[in-house]
Amino acid sequence: NPILENDLKAAIRTIPDYPKPGVLFRDITTLLGDARAFRRTVDEMVQPWAGMKIDKVAGIEARGFILGGAVAHQVSAGFVPIRKKGKLPHKRVSIAYSLEYGLDEMEMHEDAVVANERVILVDDLIATGGTAEGAVKLLQKLGAEVVAACFVIDLPDLGGADKLRALGVQVRTLLTFE
Ligand code: PRP
Ligand code: HPA
Repeated sequence: NPILENDLKAAIRTIPDYPKPGVLFRDITTLLGDARAFRRTVDEMVQPWAGMKIDKVAGIEARGFILGGAVAHQVSAGFVPIRKKGKLPHKRVSIAYSLEYGLDEMEMHEDAVVANERVILVDDLIATGGTAEGAVKLLQKLGAEVVAACFVIDLPDLGGADKLRALGVQVRTLLTFE
């Protein structure tokens, strides 16, 4: 839907040279601050799964928490945080994942999902897909069925969405930037 895509794009601010020279950072805080754009985004992210049974929405730190919390409310599901290493207090499962340069680790509480629960993964943006791939593997390690992964922004040149689809996960993105 090109009208939706253009409306949402207009609500996203682009910051040149952040966090380092040459990067165009897509800043969604302006979209989150626009009541109409925020509601549209949440509604559209889950539109294909409206009315289906979803047990949990998993959000990736940090912007996936904001969007994922709203999505969880919308589909009447519980919310599960996937966090950077060292932030969660209870027993955890961890996985290493690749960043643009190097590796990091993300964690979930081991009892945050139970086997066969139907989960939707949410984040603001997919670039190389390293972060989302790690999150999918963590959820699958706990026996969850990852029904879909939803993002506001796709950077298709970096191939992340295709990488997730190759793992058998349905991917929904609302707009793309070169
Ligand atoms: C950004 C974004 C995604 C990830 C996408 O988060 O919010 O989580 O990068 O990149 P990838 O597809 O190449 O893995 P960032 O690592 O900047 O962390 P933050 O949310 O804590 O700022
Ligand atoms: N915005 C937010 N997160 C990101 C971006 C961006 O432009 N590029 C890679 N991760």
